[in-house]
Amino acid sequence: MNILVLGGGGREHALVWAFSQNPKCDALFAAPGNAGIAAIAECVELDPCDSERVVEFCDAQSIDFVVVGPEAPLVAGVADALRDAGILTFGPSAAAAELEASKAFTKEICAAVGAPTAAHATFDDLASAEAYLAEAGAPIVVKADGLAAGKGVTVAETMEEAQAALTQLFAEPGARVVLEEMLRGEEASLFVLADGDTILPIGSAQDHKRIGEGDRGPNTGGMGAYGPAPVLTPGIEARAIAEIVAPVVAEMARRGCPYQGVLYAGLMIEDGVPRLIEFNARFGDPEAQVLVMRLGAQLLDLCLATARGELAETSVTWADDHALCVVMAARGYPGSYASGEAIGGLDTAEEPGVRVFHAGTKRVDGTIRSAGGRVLSITGRAPTLAAARDRAYEAVDRIHWPGGVCRRDIGWRALGKDAG
Ligand code: AMP
Ligand code: GLY
Repeated sequence: MNILVLGGGGREHALVWAFSQNPKCDALFAAPGNAGIAAIAECVELDPCDSERVVEFCDAQSIDFVVVGPEAPLVAGVADALRDAGILTFGPSAAAAELEASKAFTKEICAAVGAPTAAHATFDDLASAEAYLAEAGAPIVVKADGLAAGKGVTVAETMEEAQAALTQLFAEPGARVVLEEMLRGEEASLFVLADGDTILPIGSAQDHKRIGEGDRGPNTGGMGAYGPAPVLTPGIEARAIAEIVAPVVAEMARRGCPYQGVLYAGLMIEDGVPRLIEFNARFGDPEAQVLVMRLGAQLLDLCLATARGELAETSVTWADDHALCVVMAARGYPGSYASGEAIGGLDTAEEPGVRVFHAGTKRVDGTIRSAGGRVLSITGRAPTLAAARDRAYEAVDRIHWPGGVCRRDIGWRALGKDAG
């Protein structure tokens, strides 16, 4: 098969790496890819959101299968255009990707099927939002409706913070804002493949969204992850599927926009009860790195079965293992940071049980250089979480990049619980 992966982050490097291990894969392309992906696939300069050019490329290169990594091409309808052109594609239609793109849509679907989520209200003007806030009080969560790359959410402990967030969001013309009950508990992410009809769980993970150790400082795209998430016990996972994921997937099909792809359910778990924070229409980054390390080459078969509507006849082969991913970012991220710094030691960092997935990297005259905020995701896999963590950090320490920073406490919640 000739396979194209759209995207160029650590998530896409992990997907490309897994696919490259599968004997079904003949030729592998990525658009736009990065320096790590370029070592195992052909990177093409192609805007992944430009449906017309993506379809043209697939025709020219006889691409048999396309996997869409990030949300932007999904929301732009690239998966629709590919399927219309008769190309087998993994990833939801633009209509189904509304589960990520519109928080108001997701809330409405949850209400229709009775899926437990935070109480909420949606507003198109500042005055009504302020009136609701006065009534509901703090703490409260203020969210921009639409894709905001994690930056559109304020978890406000005080009325002042909530008011400031409202004022800021409504400064944008045409703003739509969701005010939401603040959920307490422990967060975990559940990943499920859906072929429109059947669902198949493929693992869980816990992300570390804050830049600083101890979960302090500003939000980022994710500074590390590990899986499986111990808080998501088999019983709680089954409950999340029965009460949230399965009814939502069924409702999407009933409404004529069946969900095909990976559905990422961000959950808050309190006293054994899972409630939905949000859906994403794609793999998480860096959660994908953790899932991919555990699933390996079978991930291609799973994605193919999803795209072909064959999940009912498909199962996952599990090893009883753990994976942990540490993100190395450019100093200053998520604020401003330097680019173009040389990164050494990459050839010796990898060993059995460790992969170094690239995100923002570029090869310039034979040297790998930083080219983004999140630059590398170093992922270890081992029979225990503590061993997976040690493998990942030992590899981090073999990488020579003075301008690179990482959190040293990835996995602390789970490792603290069972004393490492
Ligand atoms: P989102 O962009 O919806 O993923 O939100 C980003 C982060 O904000 C989540 O991962 C949570 O940590 C937090 N968050 C969002 N909604 C809520 C809520 N209703 N209650 C508590 N925390 C929330
Ligand atoms: N790591 C969070 C996300 O991919 O949305």
